[in-house]
Amino acid sequence: MTSPRTRGGTGAASLQGRDVVIVGGSSGIGLEVARRAVAAGARVTLGGRSEEKLGRAAESLGDAARWAVVDNTDKESLAAFFAGVERIDHLFTPAATYQVGPMRELTDAEAESPFVSKFWGQYHAVKHAAPKLAPDGSVVLMAGAASVRPPAAAPAYVACNAAIEGLGRGLAVELAPARVNVVSPGTIDGNLWAGRPEAAREASFAQYERDALLRRTGTEGEVADAVLFLFTNTFMTGSTLYPDGGYALR
Ligand SMILES: NC(=O)c1ccc[n+]([C@@H]2O[C@H](COP(=O)([O-])OP(=O)(O)OC[C@H]3O[C@@H](n4cnc5c(N)ncnc54)[C@H](OP(=O)(O)O)[C@@H]3O)[C@@H](O)[C@H]2O)c1
Repeated sequence: MTSPRTRGGTGAASLQGRDVVIVGGSSGIGLEVARRAVAAGARVTLGGRSEEKLGRAAESLGDAARWAVVDNTDKESLAAFFAGVERIDHLFTPAATYQVGPMRELTDAEAESPFVSKFWGQYHAVKHAAPKLAPDGSVVLMAGAASVRPPAAAPAYVACNAAIEGLGRGLAVELAPARVNVVSPGTIDGNLWAGRPEAAREASFAQYERDALLRRTGTEGEVADAVLFLFTNTFMTGSTLYPDGGYALR
């Protein structure tokens, strides 16, 4: 058997003809990953809660895209979504809805929301996807650089992102030879922040511009490039990448 390295020399797999599933693919970073995957010759399946958003996103991608509704906080919904997927070469799971804030201000349900949607949502997505994951395929989980440098008091959100990075290492052990990695971005000027109140957005962006080595927020495309790298680099597993402009260093 030839290894990817001796076969290709670069250790990079092609996405041509591959099946990519994105839970949280109807906007933001997930949709940017879908655009790049389709441009590289993959077929994509998009998941999200809003039919309207999914339909619009899939239409913008053309014939290579299909979609199905899924809510990652509902295990039956995840089971039904993955029952409709035949095979998975690469899985990306950025879907999440949660509240961020100080322990002393949030209700218990708000504080628990990152774990409910972002941690357990990804865990159960991978659990349902695993039987269909190609042995030479990969999973990329979504965390966030708050894991290593809290920007403000938000202990449950910070811990959730750190837990997802640990989950990636744990799943890499269990699912090998399929690969599992984590992308942990800094603050991204994209769809998620566009939907938040303007004053909070401006304050967060200004703080990030002070704190990051590159003195700016990132773009959805910069994170999507990191995800495509993790899909296609055949020696990456159990790693966390930080597309964060050097935020985690200072
Ligand atoms: N943007 C940033 O600055 C940043 C930085 C670090 C980490 N992240 C992480 O990146 C992830 C996505 O962010 P984004 O910037 O790409 O935001 P986004 O544009 O809001 O994308 C979220 C995607 O997930 C779907 N979704 C949300 N909740 C869902 C649920 N419960 N079940 C299924 N699908 C759901 C959304 O569609 P529906 O609403 O229709 O379901 C959408 O397709 C989040 O986990 C966030 O923590 C973002």
